[in-house]
This record gives sequence, structure tokens and C-alpha cells, in this order.
Amino acid sequence: MHQDLQLGYLVLEVSDLDAWSEFTTRTLGMSVDGAPSEDALRVRMDELQQRFLVRRGPADDDVAVGLTALNGQVLQQILDRVTAAGVPVRECDEQEARDRRVKRLYTFTAPGGITVELVSAPYHSREPLAAPLVPGGFLTGAQGLGHAVFMVDDLDEALRFWTGVLPFRVSDTSGQETPNGVSHAAFLHCNRRHHSIALVQRPARSTYPKKLLHFMVQANSLDAVGMAFDRAIDADLTINRSLGRHPNDRMFSFYATTPSGFDYEFGWGAVEVGEDWAEDHYDHISAWGHRPLPRPVR
Ligand SMILES: [Fe+2]
Repeated sequence: MHQDLQLGYLVLEVSDLDAWSEFTTRTLGMSVDGAPSEDALRVRMDELQQRFLVRRGPADDDVAVGLTALNGQVLQQILDRVTAAGVPVRECDEQEARDRRVKRLYTFTAPGGITVELVSAPYHSREPLAAPLVPGGFLTGAQGLGHAVFMVDDLDEALRFWTGVLPFRVSDTSGQETPNGVSHAAFLHCNRRHHSIALVQRPARSTYPKKLLHFMVQANSLDAVGMAFDRAIDADLTINRSLGRHPNDRMFSFYATTPSGFDYEFGWGAVEVGEDWAEDHYDHISAWGHRPLPRPVR
């Protein structure tokens, strides 16, 4: 299995930066660097300086997806494919790259208006990570920060780009009955993580106004998920999917709502994909659980 690419970081624009400061540190259990005067939070979850850049702004949505190439050669190969597909690419200057805490930075737009930032050489921190709320820490490394799930208007077009131009492969697909009709989704890998990106077809009657549906972070211990679940309840967050298990990536996880209205998934125990991975199709996305937790919870 190639390990050449990973979901390196997410850039989020949020209207309530104070709420996000509290959420990322006390609820997710991550570590925040940077002066508040910057109007941005630089969030760490491992040895890298930045896995989330949370900026003050009105969108309350993801505004960029950082894909980190293993090295400059891999970055160039991907850039060549994007350029050959006729997609305009912009090389960002040193200051923009420094803001992302990477050495090289190129940006282009994927179908559905998703801004992709293709980067290499992320900055490592000299300070060890302090994340005492998450025993065992987060599973990152070559598998990246976790996954991000986006709603797109044309799933087929988006899939052609992510798998035909970008070097992602389909792990599996799903088609689940919802009140808005069948919800079609595709789960894509670019390393051993079952999916780093998932794409969901926007249902015809959807009123969801954002691109990002949720991001997922994976802990190294089951207890860390239980403790994060307790913290979500203590923070009075909306628990959209209580503890449960996905049949495809076998993730044990829960989902709650961030201060920006999209969800986060906090999980443990996902299967990893290898060269012998066989694509499958699911008509349900949870083997058990993942049900909304009715309020009040206490
Ligand atoms: Fe997920």
C-alpha cells in the first residue's frame, strides 16, 4: 500500500473562535498554539505544528483541505496530473506556505467548490504534544489527521476527479435510505486509512448549507473514545450519533456537533486497507448504534 499522500490538515472558518478554542482543547483534547490576536487557532494533535487551522470568519465550514505529499517528487507528479486535466493551479508564496506551516504549497479547486491545498514538508514542532485528555494520543502519522466527509452536487464528477486525477482509490460505496431519499456516498483512501476523504451526493431535497459534513479523528485507545463521549455530554453538545460501529471501516465512534454546525466523529479501532483490499457496497452505514441521543441526557 502506498503511503505517498495523506490528509494533512483542514482549514476551517468559524464565527465563534472562543467556542472553538474551548472545543478543540477541552472537548477534543487537542493542543492549541498561537496568539489569540492572530484571529486563528493553530491546533496540534501530534508532532506536526498544525493539523487544523481554525480562522475567524463567517463561513462556519471547511475552506481548504490540505493534502500532504510524502516529498517534492510525489507533489510534482500529482501537480502534473492536475495540470494535465486542465485544472488551474496556483503556486502560493512563502508567506502563505508559512501560514499553513508547510514548505511548499499549491492550490486548486476540486468539483463541488472544494479548495485543495497540495503541500509538502510540513513543519514539525520542537515541543512534545500535551494532550492529557486523550490517553494514547491520536492515530495520525502516515495516515494523516483522520478523514473529512464532503457533500457534493455531482458525486460522479467529484469521483472522477478524486480517483482519476488525484491518486485516491475507492474503498467502498454506500446507498442508504434517508427521509430525503437514498443517500449515495463513496469512501476514498490514499494510504492505509480506510478513508481520508468521503464524498456524499447532496440529496435533491437537502437543506444542508455547508460543504463539510464531518471530520473524523481516531484515538489509539477505546477508553479515549468513552472519555471524549463524556466530554461531549458535559459540554452539552448535540450527539447526532451515539456510540456505534461502522460496517465498512469498522470504526467504533460517536458523532457530535461542533460550534460551527457541522459534526465531528471521534473513533477508535478502524480496519486498515492493504493492496488486497476489495471494494464493497453497503446499504447501511452502521452495524449497530450511531443513533441520535435524545435530550436531556442527564
Ligand atoms: Fe466518518
